[in-house]
Amino acid sequence: MSHDAAPHLDFAGTTPYEDYVQADVLTHLQHPLSEDPGEMVFLVTTQVMELWFTVIVHEWETAIQALGEDRVPEALDALKRSVRELEALNASWKPLGQLTPAQFNSYRDALGEGSGFQSAMYRRMEFLLGDKSASMLVPHRGAPRVHAELEKALAQPSLYDEVLGLLARRGLPVPRTVLERDLTRKYEPSEAVEKVWSGIYGDPDQNAELVRLGEALTDVGELVWRWRNDHLVATRRAMGAKAGTGGSAGVAWLEKRARKNVFPELWTARSYV
Ligand code: HEM
Repeated sequence: MSHDAAPHLDFAGTTPYEDYVQADVLTHLQHPLSEDPGEMVFLVTTQVMELWFTVIVHEWETAIQALGEDRVPEALDALKRSVRELEALNASWKPLGQLTPAQFNSYRDALGEGSGFQSAMYRRMEFLLGDKSASMLVPHRGAPRVHAELEKALAQPSLYDEVLGLLARRGLPVPRTVLERDLTRKYEPSEAVEKVWSGIYGDPDQNAELVRLGEALTDVGELVWRWRNDHLVATRRAMGAKAGTGGSAGVAWLEKRARKNVFPELWTARSYV
C-alpha cells in the first residue's frame, strides 16, 4: 500500500466501525426532559458513568472467576485494569462538580423521582464488593433482566469472599463462620480476618503475591470511597441539604453511605503491622 493511500469510503451497508461500536444507537440515547441546555451534560455524564460501572463489573467478575481457580496473576491484571477504569470514572465528575443550585434546579423537577439510587449497575458493583442487601432488589422488580442479574449477584460470592477463600486455601486461619457466611447478607468485619491481613502485611517477603493482592484491593476500595465522596461534594454544591429526588434525606443520607470502608479489615489491619 502506498503512503498516500486514503481511508476507504465505500461500504455496501453500515460501516464496520458502526457494526462494532453501534455509535448510531449510543449517540441517539440522549433524551433530555427539560429545555435547559445544561441538562445534556448531566444526562451524558450519568450514561458515561453507567458504562464505566459496566466495564468495572466485568473486570471484577473476571477477577472473581480467576481467584476461585487460584489464578492470582490473572485476578491481579483484572483488578489493576479496574483501578485505572475507576480513575477514569472518577475523572468524569469534572463537568458536574461545580453545579450551582440554580443551574441544577433548571432541570431537577423534570427528573421526577428519578435518582442514581435506582442504578442497577452501581448496585451490582456494591454487591461484588460485599455490600449486599436484598431490599435493594425491590426497585428493579419491573425490569426482569436487571432483576435477574442482581439476584444472581446477591447470591454469588463477592470479590472479597473469593479473596478470603483463597487465603484459607493458602493455609491462613480465616474462620469457618466467615467462609460459610450467608452470602446474601452484607459482609461484616472480623477480628480474625484483620489478624490474617496484619500477618500478611507484617511479613511482605514471605507474602509478596498476597501483599500485591491486598494493595490492588485497597486501591479499589480507596477509589470507590473517592467516587462516593466526589458524588457527595457535587451533591452538596448542587442542592445543599434538600431532600433527594429518590426520596432520601439527600446529603445526610449520602454522608452515611460515604463513611463506609470497602474491604474493612484491609484498612483496620494497618494499625497492627
Ligand atoms: C450533581 C448531580 C447529582 C446530584 C445532586 C445527585 C444527588 C443524589 C442524591 C440526593 C442521592 C440520594 C438518593 C436520593 O434521594 O435521590 C443520590 C444517590 C445516588 N446517585 Fe446521585 N446525584 C448527582 C449525580 C449523579 C451521577 C452523575 C451519578 C452517576 C450514575 C449518580 C449516581 C448515584 C448513585 C449510584 C446513588 C446511590 C448511592 C448509594 O446507594 O449509596 N449521581 N444522588
